[in-house]
Order: sequence, then C-alpha cells, then structure tokens
Amino acid sequence: MSTLPVVTTVRELQAQADAERAAGRRIALVPTMGALHAGHLSLVTEARRQADVVWMSIFVNPTQFNDPKDFEGYPVDMKRDLALAAEHGVDLVFSPLAAELYPEGAQTWVEVSELAEPLCGASRPGHFRGVTTVVAKLLLAARPHVAVFGQKDFQQCAVIRRMASDLGFGVEIVAAPTVREPDGLALSSRNVHLGPEARRQALALVRALDAAEQAVAQGERGRDALLAGVHAEIGQASLAQIDYAEIRDPETLEISPGQLAGPSLLALAVNFAADGPGQGAPVRLIDNRVLTPGPAA
Ligand code: PAJ
Repeated sequence: MSTLPVVTTVRELQAQADAERAAGRRIALVPTMGALHAGHLSLVTEARRQADVVWMSIFVNPTQFNDPKDFEGYPVDMKRDLALAAEHGVDLVFSPLAAELYPEGAQTWVEVSELAEPLCGASRPGHFRGVTTVVAKLLLAARPHVAVFGQKDFQQCAVIRRMASDLGFGVEIVAAPTVREPDGLALSSRNVHLGPEARRQALALVRALDAAEQAVAQGERGRDALLAGVHAEIGQASLAQIDYAEIRDPETLEISPGQLAGPSLLALAVNFAADGPGQGAPVRLIDNRVLTPGPAA
C-alpha cells in the first residue's frame, strides 16, 4: 500500500508549498503526463539531487495536443504511475482534473514567440502554447524552487526556460539527459505504438545522430553535408518519413551557419508508418544531439 499523498486542487498544493517553504525546504517539481517510464523516473532522481522534497505532476494536458485523436489515445494508468512514483521516492503527486487547471471560461494563454516557431512548433501548431500555458499554471500551483525536464524534448526545455525567465517565476529550469533503451532508442510513451518492424527501423534516428557526431569528430563542419548524411541514414528505413532534420543554434534555435562554428543542435522528428496489428496512425519520434566541433585543426 502506497502512502503517497495525491493532491488534486491548486489551493491545497499552494498551501503545501507555503508550508515547505516556511520550513526552509527546497521543492523540486517534475511535470509529466503520466505513462511513466525510466526517462521520467530519471528526472525524479535528478530532482532529488536538486531539492529536499520532490513533487511530480501527472496531468494529460488537453491544450497541447494538436490532434484530438492523439489526446484521446494517450495512455493512462494512474494506479501504475502512482506505484512507480512512490517506489522512486516521489513525496507528493499533483493530479488535477482538467477543470481545475482550465476553469470554465478560461481564456488566458502563455505563449513564447520565436523559440516556439521552428521544429516541433512548425509541425505541431499550438503545441507549445499549450505546453507553456500548463507549465505556467503548474509552477504557480507548486511554487517550486526548481523544475526538471528532459533534454529529449530539447525545444520544450528552451521554450520553458525562456517563459520562466521572461515572466520572472524565480524557478530554476534543469534539463536532464535522455534515457535510452539498451539499443539506443530514446524512451518515449509513443514507442509502444511501434510495430515490430517500425521498432527495428526506429534505430535510424540514433544512428543518424551518431553518424553526424562521428563526422563532426572527424572534421566535417558543413551543415548541409551533415544533413545529407542524416537523410541518407534515415532514408534506409522504409517505414520512416522525415518530418524535420535541422541543425540550429542550441540557444536561439536559429538555423546554424553553413559551416558550424560552435555547439550546434541536430534535431530530428521522424514519422514511422504503423506496421503492427491494427495498423494505426504513424508514430512520430523525436531525438536530438548537440554537435560540438572541436577547435579548428
Ligand atoms: P511527458 O511527455 O510526460 O514528459 C515528461 C518529462 O519527461 C518531459 O520533461 C520530457 O522531456 C521527459 N522525458 C520524456 N522522455 C524522456 C527520456 N527518454 N529521457 C529523459 N526524459 C524524458 O513533456 C511533457 O510530458 C509535457 O509537455 C509537460 C512538460 C508535462 C507539459 O504538459
């Protein structure tokens, strides 16, 4: 039996936050949409390093899904999630109903402009507006000192960091490294939708990232040559269709110059056709790597 406290209202969470703060304890928040896997749980471990109390939010945020079917099909297993959270030392779970975060008549949005436009912002209109709005609400409810996010969603981290800084939340945004399957595939709640052949071919993402990193280590600096390598690698996967493959500045997310001069973000989004039983919708996977050219020879 788990004794993990589950809070469902903003008011109660704020009262708890005030009590923790009054007692001089540091609060870390790990926002999630549930369907917990080892990637989420690694954020809990990082949060524990950062703070005295670790809170997790579990809320499938309707406003960040640009496809209603994706929202309806999002895996939900609260019992399992609560057991995993308790097992990994989470001190409290915040799990509100949608009406608690979006009261009837709500019409206030938090939107970051330039950083949210390219990459996933371009392929998923409205997605980041939903993310920043809900994360702002979660930060106002939990009043954490630090919030931990995964680097797998690199642009999400950048957008949230900007929002928190622009609005003066006074919260530290920490990005934790991507957790992978033993064969290299980044963990994602979407991986379960891959059929057996798509699951094999999904390794094209990490192969493309590895190949680019290796090319940079061997002296390649040409942005287009690196991207051509990415296309060649992913082109070998017959079920894969590239949504985007881009090299951008990791801070501003502007397109990198033709010759990479400093750390550069290689960001990939690839759709995999369903090949399993049921033949559902394509599965969209993302991954990224910061390429770091060494000093010129
Ligand atoms: P969700 O997809 O549930 O992810 C919750 C957190 O886990 C995010 O910070 C995400 O980057 C991180 N994460 C996912 N896969 C990971 C992996 N393989 N390794 C490390 N971290 C990983 O991202 C969201 O939810 C939502 O947009 C949210 C921020 C909760 C707002 O609704």
